[in-house]
Amino acid sequence: MKRTARHPETHARLLAATCGFAIALAVGGTLAHTAGAFSAPRMSEAHSTDLPSFRTSLFAGSGDCAFCHTSDGEVLRDSQGNDLSMPEDWRATMMANSFRDPFFQATLEREVALRPHRQGEIEDMCLRCHAPMAHTQAHYDGTGPLSLAHARLSPLAAEGVSCTVCHQIQPDNLFSEESWDGNYIIRDSAEIFGPYEGVYQWAMISALGYTPKFGAHMLTSEHCATCHTLFTPIVDEAGKTLGRFPEQTPYLEWRNSIYADATNAVSCQDCHMPVIDDPVYISHDPPVTERSPFWKHHFVGGNTFMLSLMRDNIERLGVTAEERHFDMTIERTRRQLREDTATLAVVATELEPDHATVVVRVENLTGHKLPTGYPARRAWLRFVARDGDGNALFESGAWDNSGDIHGVGEDWQPHRDLIADPAHVQVYEGIMADLQGRRTTSLLSAASYLKDNRLPPRGFRADGPYYADTAIIGDAATDANFNREAGVEGSGSDRVAYRFPLSGHPPETIRIEVELLYQSIIPLFARNLAEPETPGGLDFLELYAQRHNQPEWVARVERLLVARPSAWTIY
Ligand code: HEC
Ligand code: HEC
Ligand code: HEC
Ligand code: HEC
Ligand code: HEC
Repeated sequence: MKRTARHPETHARLLAATCGFAIALAVGGTLAHTAGAFSAPRMSEAHSTDLPSFRTSLFAGSGDCAFCHTSDGEVLRDSQGNDLSMPEDWRATMMANSFRDPFFQATLEREVALRPHRQGEIEDMCLRCHAPMAHTQAHYDGTGPLSLAHARLSPLAAEGVSCTVCHQIQPDNLFSEESWDGNYIIRDSAEIFGPYEGVYQWAMISALGYTPKFGAHMLTSEHCATCHTLFTPIVDEAGKTLGRFPEQTPYLEWRNSIYADATNAVSCQDCHMPVIDDPVYISHDPPVTERSPFWKHHFVGGNTFMLSLMRDNIERLGVTAEERHFDMTIERTRRQLREDTATLAVVATELEPDHATVVVRVENLTGHKLPTGYPARRAWLRFVARDGDGNALFESGAWDNSGDIHGVGEDWQPHRDLIADPAHVQVYEGIMADLQGRRTTSLLSAASYLKDNRLPPRGFRADGPYYADTAIIGDAATDANFNREAGVEGSGSDRVAYRFPLSGHPPETIRIEVELLYQSIIPLFARNLAEPETPGGLDFLELYAQRHNQPEWVARVERLLVARPSAWTIY
């Protein structure tokens, strides 16, 4: 089993450093400082999953951090002895792979192919968040804008959202709109911000020329909001900018929730970096003293699809995580989806002579909409009613191996409150439209939403902060039990009634099975990458075709309804 990067050169440099030698060692001279002149990533030779080491005028490789922030003996372990190393937890996350992600690269190539005259501007914009080290370095060096072609040669791009990105973000413009769209500020002051006051600084100063220090902003949601709030420009055919489209707004949704108010304050970090109170030595070189609390670098969302695709194509994609790291992140993602994402219940039934009605309630437990973030995500309800022999009396929301939902296909459906037709399905999603009002999957064609019935977080209100950019759109806005319980707004829940015929004599028992499902890539977002044809699109579609686009289940209930003279009893 390979360990984290310990190249002889780095090792000597770090050993020397911790023995008291000075910062001059920080830049080995092997890497020039300009974006155009990075040495080719190691994956072009024999593929290696070692974390890379490099030090530029701004950034360092995760392998340099792994040298001291990796568990060893009692260091970086919880009280049960579990490994807490940040590089181990981070390396197979979507953020560590935000540039290598083949869906990202294919989508970027398509956005450019649709409007080639804007290539430079578009590539530089996308890389701001997906390749933040290479982007920031290029602009610092005066070699920007950064192109996709240059980024592909850069080891800084390959590392995605790496240690020295998050830990060097300055507090200056946080809490202001100016920090959104990836406008975080990183400068060459070589400060590494963390959650603790009074840490021992000399080890990092001498090894890498960075000074670790307390930064209160590290604990705030506004830190994450820099890259997780994205408005894209709405540009017409004549090149005129008409406005901005809210493509990703988890932070704005969070602001309009119970999690952001002063008494409830639950930050992005609180949910996405599970905290433990166990005292932990955070570095083994030297261990200094035990720190508490400690935030784990899990960063999981819902994207098991891409994590599995990357795990199965490590060499081809040049990934620096091993299979076991991906398995760990996938397992954490599934656990979060099943335990912390939503609840589901059968809340009422009604029997007519020839029909039954079953009401299902779903509630969002996350700190933002469900689903949130990238607009290719959707969640939906599958509902099945069976008679005593197991025959389906009614089914809505089944799907096939290509990830299409029966009844929906490549189309989309409006929000539902009552479902009486098996071809109707409750799908929670945001559907983007272009300037002509036609559905689009192109980020830069999007001008409005035709539908947004994603489940709001608890506390979400039409008169709350940033509602205009996060509005409920379509029939959900007038559904009396969407985000409302007993007339009170902000429940984060929805009730859907299923009404189906009992064909003649009602069965004595009916088994109800309901599932809430989550899918990272609505199949149309993948299929549309074939047109216009691009190398990245073809590459991704080949990988995509090798697997079933299966959703993950988020919540499941099974109930038995037993016929009584006047009503049904739920068991
Ligand atoms: C997406 C941003 C992000 C990335 C990437 C990231 N960190 Fe962190 N890290 C944080 C935040 C935020 C905290 C503090 C948590 C808090 O205060 O709520 C933290 C805390 C820490 C701490 C203090 C101990 C702890 O975990 O609480 C260390 C050490 C650390 N990070 C090192 C690293 C290293 C090494 C890497 C790369 C392998 C890394 N971080 C990658 C955001 C990040
Ligand atoms: C030579 C060993 C060494 C290396 C290499 C190293 N660190 Fe550290 N780091 C330490 C030590 C020692 C501490 C302080 C531990 C303490 O006081 O408890 C520390 C503390 C930190 C903290 C906490 C700061 C605070 O005030 O909360 C962060 C964050 C951090 N390191 C990130 C990084 C990152 C990112 C890298 C890679 C660029 C890195 N470290 C490389 C040894 C190292
Ligand atoms: C420098 C930009 C940047 C910062 C800062 C940042 N993120 Fe991200 N984050 C990204 C990008 C880019 C992706 C998407 C990667 C992809 O899917 O290719 C992402 C993805 C994620 C995901 C989705 C993972 C999944 O499996 O679906 C979560 C969760 C997440 N980030 C949490 C956080 C949290 C929490 C913070 C703050 C501590 C944070 N991010 C800060 C850029 C950033
Ligand atoms: C109360 C807990 C909680 C809080 C607070 C929270 N999240 Fe999440 N988040 C979740 C859960 C659970 C999921 C998994 C379900 C899902 O994918 O939507 C998730 C998923 C995500 C995803 C992936 C979503 C997708 O569908 O692609 C991103 C990105 C994300 N969160 C970012 C953030 C950011 C940024 C913040 C702070 C503004 C934040 N989260 C605050 C619980 C939380
Ligand atoms: C402001 C930061 C930011 C910018 C700029 C940005 N993205 Fe992203 N992108 C993200 C984040 C954060 C996510 C993950 C959200 C989630 O998981 O739901 C993401 C996710 C994606 C995904 C989904 C990846 C997957 O594996 O599911 C694609 C595709 C994508 N972005 C393409 C692009 C393209 C193309 C551009 C340029 C037009 C772009 N992005 C610009 C932050 C950004």
